[in-house]
Amino acid sequence: MQIHYQETTKDLLARIDIHEKYGARNIDQWTTETLRPRPDMKILDVGCGAGKQCFLYSDYSQRKADITGGDFSNELLDKARAQNAERNDNCRFMFLDFNKRFEFADNTFDLVSSAFAIYYASNLDFTFGEAHRVLKPGGRLFVTGPLPENKKMFYDIIKEATNKPIPPMPGSSRFKGEIYKTIEDKFSKTELLTFENPLTFPEVAPFIDYVRASLSEDRKLWTSMFNNHDEYEALIGEIEKVATRWFKRDGKLAMTKVVGGILATK
Ligand SMILES: C[S@@+](CC[C@H](N)C(=O)[O-])C[C@H]1O[C@@H](n2cnc3c(N)ncnc32)[C@H](O)[C@@H]1O
Repeated sequence: MQIHYQETTKDLLARIDIHEKYGARNIDQWTTETLRPRPDMKILDVGCGAGKQCFLYSDYSQRKADITGGDFSNELLDKARAQNAERNDNCRFMFLDFNKRFEFADNTFDLVSSAFAIYYASNLDFTFGEAHRVLKPGGRLFVTGPLPENKKMFYDIIKEATNKPIPPMPGSSRFKGEIYKTIEDKFSKTELLTFENPLTFPEVAPFIDYVRASLSEDRKLWTSMFNNHDEYEALIGEIEKVATRWFKRDGKLAMTKVVGGILATK
């Protein structure tokens, strides 16, 4: 399956910022408590974006773990490298397309992780085969992604505003099923962990910022809902009307991020 989707630096960073500002819980803490990255580990983060998870592991391991982030967006890699320099850190960032062979020898890493990224792979069997190959025996894979119950309020508001079906989300529609199954078939031990983060928006405006960073024209995920910029703006206007109605009714806009973490051992 070919997924025509692309992340943009601006939209990704806007969403991360909103999760941090309005969320009650911290996904980074959950991630490090689950993985406890140690100073002696060799780690690969696939679809690293601007380096969020790499820097998290680096801090947790007192800058001692050997960390590589791979992504196919040169723009995001540049961002990650700039931040690495600013932090005076020693993470490595390299071009990696997870639909192609990973340029590493067999049995290289203690941990391969991928946060909200690898489930876009066109051939799950191939990509998770690569993750398995580059892991050392006993090494762990950790893949996070949205579960079907994720952000229900967000989708309900969009449904009410548009009367159109929500396009199938490459993450949540496959995470618990196809992706879990692919990993389970390859690894010796696999489990599904969950993390819930309630986000409360005290006004409509930051919710609309979140909608724009999710539905953004540039991400090409939602193009079944609009054909051009004017239609896009009209759609956002409709969503804002519904959100404002819900806000008046409930006094807030509350949406829960429901994240799955597949943890597997080679
Ligand atoms: C939602 S972002 C998550 C980024 C980062 N892990 C984070 O949590 O901030 C998804 C990432 O997957 C990357 N990506 C999408 N398709 C890819 C591919 N075929 N190979 C490598 N990276 C890819 C995007 O460029 C983007 O950085």
